[in-house]
Amino acid sequence: MAQITDRTAVPRRYLMCRPTYFDVTYSINPWMDPEKPVDRELAVLQWERLRQLYLELGHTVELIEPVPGLPDMVFAANGATVVDGRVLGARFRNEQRAAEGPAYARWFRENGFTQVRDAEFVNEGEGDYLVTRSWVLAGCGFRTDPASHQEAQDFFHRPVIGLRLVDPRFYHLDTALAVLGDDEIMYCPESFSPGSRAVLRRLFPDAVLVSAEDAGVFGLNAVSDGYNVVLPQAATGLAEQLAARGYNPIGIDLSELLKAGGSAKCCTLEIRASGPDGTGATATPARTACVV
Ligand code: ARG
Repeated sequence: MAQITDRTAVPRRYLMCRPTYFDVTYSINPWMDPEKPVDRELAVLQWERLRQLYLELGHTVELIEPVPGLPDMVFAANGATVVDGRVLGARFRNEQRAAEGPAYARWFRENGFTQVRDAEFVNEGEGDYLVTRSWVLAGCGFRTDPASHQEAQDFFHRPVIGLRLVDPRFYHLDTALAVLGDDEIMYCPESFSPGSRAVLRRLFPDAVLVSAEDAGVFGLNAVSDGYNVVLPQAATGLAEQLAARGYNPIGIDLSELLKAGGSAKCCTLEIRASGPDGTGATATPARTACVV
């Protein structure tokens, strides 16, 4: 495969939620242990660094007001999926997070989005929906109901590719796969069913294949702007792979949030307005950035 070194960062618009009420008081994934103490102040600090980094990279960061009693609300990625300005609201599998769906939907309605859909089927937003240039990749197996995939396809007018997750540690698609840009992705094959692996190989023959070790430190919970890839700093092997592909990996420490089973991508909901070419990319001029 030809080595590509020219990558272009495209400024993004993100929605984030400060972890003011972050805590681990229940367990809905194998990372969460309510017995283990959480340092909320440190969580806020780590989250602030992530937000600051996005601003330095030239992105826009919108904030939603955190709600007391919703300790997982910091994981904004789960709040909705936004493609071409159309917002598919989240509908959570677990009762503990149910109130987050309406809270995020309200934010979109109050911020000028007119196409906001209250979901019919369980879906955990960008936790399980990831958008490439050609497709919407959709996880199932732990949280999002496969029936939601059809709902998303009808709503977004984009082909939705269903992918089955098989490892409970990687319960959301965004813990097992990340979009790097256009139709380029990275993923950990072991996290998917044999059939889904075959589909990924077919659609993305040049994908970055990620080791179980790097996936195990949440390396795939990454946010790419097409050039800069923000990812957990412990995923060192993956950072090398990305650099070899011409990306700029930027490691970040979000250890407190990992206690709830989340990292960079989980904290970041991308707001995709419709792009000039209809790709759903942000309609702002592209630029190249390099921040180490
Ligand atoms: N504790 C949260 C849950 O289990 C973590 C969500 C992480 N978010 C994500 N996009 N993977 O639902």
